[in-house]
Amino acid sequence: MLILGIETSCDETGVALYDAAAGRLAAHAVHSQVAMHEAYGGVVPELASRDHIRRLIPLTRQVLRQAKRNIHDLSGVGYTAGPGLAGALLVGASFAHALGVALRIPALGIHHLEGHLLSPLLSERPPSFPFVALLVSGGHTQLMRVEGVGRYTLLGETQDDAAGEAFDKTAQLLGLGYPGGPALSRLADTGVPGRLTLPRPMLHSQDLEFSFSGLKTAVATAIKNEQPRPADLARAFVDAVVEVLVAKCLKALQSTGLKRLVVAGGVGANRQLRAALDAAASQRSFEVFYPEPELCTDNGAMIAFAAALRLPQEASGEARFTVKPRWDLEG
Ligand code: KG4
Ligand code: ZN
Repeated sequence: MLILGIETSCDETGVALYDAAAGRLAAHAVHSQVAMHEAYGGVVPELASRDHIRRLIPLTRQVLRQAKRNIHDLSGVGYTAGPGLAGALLVGASFAHALGVALRIPALGIHHLEGHLLSPLLSERPPSFPFVALLVSGGHTQLMRVEGVGRYTLLGETQDDAAGEAFDKTAQLLGLGYPGGPALSRLADTGVPGRLTLPRPMLHSQDLEFSFSGLKTAVATAIKNEQPRPADLARAFVDAVVEVLVAKCLKALQSTGLKRLVVAGGVGANRQLRAALDAAASQRSFEVFYPEPELCTDNGAMIAFAAALRLPQEASGEARFTVKPRWDLEG
């Protein structure tokens, strides 16, 4: 079984081949649109859709060449059906279904967050079920209980901004460009810890909910009133976000009684977060699992992999052509 994975939910065109028989990734390629959107300070949906159209065929040819496989070797296609930008999702859905019809193979819509959630299973040291998953991306911040493929329970999520969104908005306030998460993280490394303190939103709430929009306001206020060194402000911001994320992960592990934590999504690539979680894990004797760094942000590999796990369970029949710009993972 060779499965093609297509990711076009936002500003990355991701294409990958997962060899289900060998149980490994055969090839993957990502084209990032960051340079194109940078001038606008954020993703322009119409430009994103048009660029996905331009990239999909060349990237598909590229991964087939890399894996030394032929298009007729494909036995299924997985594509991101949501959540994401409607126009961008439709590009991937159309491409996947067209291939499905032409090659007489199934095309299956995959939940973007399920892709992220399962991506650590592609790493050298994969976690076993059940586990707690922290999903931290540009659009989502959620804690989930994961019993197995397709068995997800939402434990808590952000009430407003996502963690990645808070990183990006703070980076923008500091003039670090878009998306500013990685640059903000690097700048924080050179800041003095504790020179500035920012609020820890909902740190002591008894639930597993998050809130990050107030933090962005606190950053704006600090810039206006205190004119801090950008590096010190970056440090204060990263320390606040990391402390809240780690505390809620610990709470989720405690309340579920589970001993395995999986971190996924773009912010999962953050060095400070990983260091803090690793330290907590060795102290409190639980295990933490991360995707390979290149598979933290959006990619086709996670979609190909989720499709490979799901396709054997899918009832054959008429393929449903659908995208869901908004879509709960539990559903
Ligand atoms: O998962 P992802 O690629 O796309 C979404 O599904 O949203 O996540 C992108 C987000 C952006 O907000 C980006 O700034 C953030 O992940 N990000 C980081 C780092 N790398 C990516 N945030 C903090 N530190 C990083 N190293
Ligand atoms: Zn994502």
